[in-house]
Amino acid sequence: MTENPATEAYDAVDVIRTKRDKHELTDGQIDWLVDAYTRGVVAEEQMSALTMAILLNGMNRDEIARWTNAMIASGERLDFSILSRPTADKHSTGGVGDKITLPLAPLVAACGVAVPQLSGRGLGHTGGTLDKLESIPGWRAALSNEEMLAQLEDVGAVICAAGSGLAPADKKLYALRDVTGTVESIPMISASIMSKKIAEGTGALVLDVKVGSGAFMKTEADARELARTMVDLGTDAGVVTTALLTDMSTPLGRGIGNALEVTESVAVLAGGGPADVVELTIALAREMLAGAGVTDVDPADALADGRAMDAWRRMIAAQGGDPDAELPVATHTEEIRADRDGVIVRMDALGVGVAAWRLGAGRARKEDPVQAGAGVYLHKTLGEQVKAGEVIATLHTDTPERFTRAIDSLDTACDGAGAIAIGSVAPERSIVIDRISAG
Ligand code: URA
Repeated sequence: MTENPATEAYDAVDVIRTKRDKHELTDGQIDWLVDAYTRGVVAEEQMSALTMAILLNGMNRDEIARWTNAMIASGERLDFSILSRPTADKHSTGGVGDKITLPLAPLVAACGVAVPQLSGRGLGHTGGTLDKLESIPGWRAALSNEEMLAQLEDVGAVICAAGSGLAPADKKLYALRDVTGTVESIPMISASIMSKKIAEGTGALVLDVKVGSGAFMKTEADARELARTMVDLGTDAGVVTTALLTDMSTPLGRGIGNALEVTESVAVLAGGGPADVVELTIALAREMLAGAGVTDVDPADALADGRAMDAWRRMIAAQGGDPDAELPVATHTEEIRADRDGVIVRMDALGVGVAAWRLGAGRARKEDPVQAGAGVYLHKTLGEQVKAGEVIATLHTDTPERFTRAIDSLDTACDGAGAIAIGSVAPERSIVIDRISAG
């Protein structure tokens, strides 16, 4: 379908020229454009030109808010007000080994706040939450709105696929940005993430904005701007929103890959697990509980006494999964060993993430399958002592022809210096870099 100048309120070429010439888009232009694009009246090539103009020339706070609202208005809005407890959700901008949603959702539920986690599948080197959970035999991602509400009331936590009814304009636009080199625009990323979260209807939202080689945002300045923009959008929409800036220069935890990450999450729920995963899970849980108005419960207690594990088991079982089932294990492994004594001074998130992806843990195209057992297990990570000949990492895959390219990504990361480096002085690492709140 093409534009009909007799019936359409605006002309797409005029809107493109406005942004190309660095002017502010009017409310009417934005409302019309997002709606007309969703209806198929604005052509893909016109939207491509406009998104490139926005990437180059930006949008101000009013434009971003209007764009976000227009995307929300393109679909349905969920309503959790019938639930007997408050709601809080978390969104991570994505990282390597970022399995935090898995222990976090049941932990927060165990503390009395309902967690509606509408998630996606992974694309590229950062894994998707649904891919991880689908390594649990029987677990099902697709729930109707009624099933989701019933589970939220009963169990208090649900992690499921975001239905196509939420912000359909964003779905179409994100796919276009993905193939036109226009994803990396802070205004459009903010509008994209927040339109889905606001439409989802959560009362409180915590954003985990990652910074570092394995993250979308490579610099702290960009991560701060993204966090600030999203916090403002959420706050203006009446959602209690805060953000944590967190480190993604090194993978989170030791397991990177779908089943490996589920195993590690269960270890955290059992009161163990890697210290960085535990620290970030508790920090985000505190933020979510505070946002939902619950300040008299310490999530560390609910992890330690098994309440979070109980909520996990009920959450998995409610979606058809068997919490006691053996998880898939890859058929082939290869070990990476230390060539000298020392301490791990670099464990680069991007290099390890790409290795896990190449082993089969992630996908290159939306329709590709993932291997449940594939990935990287880090026996040694940043700051840990290692002896010559000791195993630093085990690579897992069902398709051993993938080992060469995976090892290549470990060897060539960090401009050829390698993803893993051994030195003499353990580096400092702060998981939570800063907190950004409304105001
Ligand atoms: N995630 C989203 O949902 N949208 C973006 O634009 C980028 C990351």
